[in-house]
Amino acid sequence: MTAPLIDPFARAITYLRVSVTDRCDFRCVYCMSENMTFLPKKELLTLEELDHMCSTFVGMGVEKLRITGGEPLVRRGIMTFFHAMGRHLESGALKELTLTTNGSQLEKYAQDLFDAGVRRVNISLDTLDETKFAEVTRWGRLPQVLRGIDAAQKAGLRVKINAVALKAFNEPELGQITRWCAERDMDLTWIEVMPMGDLGNEDRLDQYWSLKDVRSAYEQEYTVTDLAERTGGPARYIRLEETGQKIGFITPLSHNFCESCNRVRLTCTGELYMCLGQEDMADLRAPLRSAPGDAAALQDAIRAAITKKPKGHDFDYSRQRVDGQMSRHMSHTGG
Ligand code: GTP
Ligand code: 5AD
Ligand code: SF4
Repeated sequence: MTAPLIDPFARAITYLRVSVTDRCDFRCVYCMSENMTFLPKKELLTLEELDHMCSTFVGMGVEKLRITGGEPLVRRGIMTFFHAMGRHLESGALKELTLTTNGSQLEKYAQDLFDAGVRRVNISLDTLDETKFAEVTRWGRLPQVLRGIDAAQKAGLRVKINAVALKAFNEPELGQITRWCAERDMDLTWIEVMPMGDLGNEDRLDQYWSLKDVRSAYEQEYTVTDLAERTGGPARYIRLEETGQKIGFITPLSHNFCESCNRVRLTCTGELYMCLGQEDMADLRAPLRSAPGDAAALQDAIRAAITKKPKGHDFDYSRQRVDGQMSRHMSHTGG
């Protein structure tokens, strides 16, 4: 391994999130617009290029690889890539290979993912109501996702449910979603909605349901204990004493977690974003394509990029307008 990646604020970069496609079979309202224009296929890194990129990062100390999209499982041939990454698990260089998915293709791929070395999946699910599910995803079908979740658990994958907290939308379902996860022994994490993508005239303040309020809602029904543990991600955890259940909160807006950030994001076109909430990025596709066999050129480009990692993001709802709103779609950087 070459020298580890350390950013200017002494944070070690050990976690790479990779968006393998900007496409998705859903159009979640907080993530995509209805008429998305997707990138021409030739803009995308090929599966071989993705392998080369990820392997270079692993050689520079990245221990956790999370595959995202768009929806990663709609990318053609993606299982070949998962199996290829499995070799870094076998060598011990990589500690975890995982993905964040909408679950729609899991019925088909769960076993194959397990065979490639995946042990955990994060599945996005904001509601258990079929009609509301179709509304928030614009045309997703809940039963298909539920079958995917079953298949994942049958294959031996540990499942974490990610729910975006949307006021008035899933607020009334808090108890039901929580119990449903407990019954299935699945972890649950609530995410504050972030100001990304096309917001048009609305700034999403009306949808914003602070996780401080989610916590208060839990406190009305349960005895809540704060847990000190962190899992290398941005989530903070509480335990519901009555059920023993652990609930995560990802609060980019009401509680900034940037000081312990360990991650960077690679897009499907080979741009490296040093922060989800900043526009600054470095193009890694150019060095990769201009000198295909030259590992040093790519490593130098990665090191130069890491020196530009900012201290934190700019999202801020507290100023009553979204100064830090990003025009970039979440599907571009992979959430
Ligand atoms: P674990 O490995 O389970 O800890 O996963 P994770 O929380 O790192 O990944 P996951 O894909 O489940 O993240 C859920 C969501 O949290 C993402 O889709 C983003 O919406 C948000 N999120 C994750 N990492 C960051 C981050 O660094 N900054 C911000 N602002 N949001 C993040
Ligand atoms: N704010 C918060 N979370 C978002 N996601 C997508 N868009 C947003 C947003 N604007 C989440 C999805 C999924 C992950 C890929 O990103 O719910 O869990
Ligand atoms: Fe697709 Fe996930 Fe975005 Fe929904 S949040 S449109 S499932 S990428």
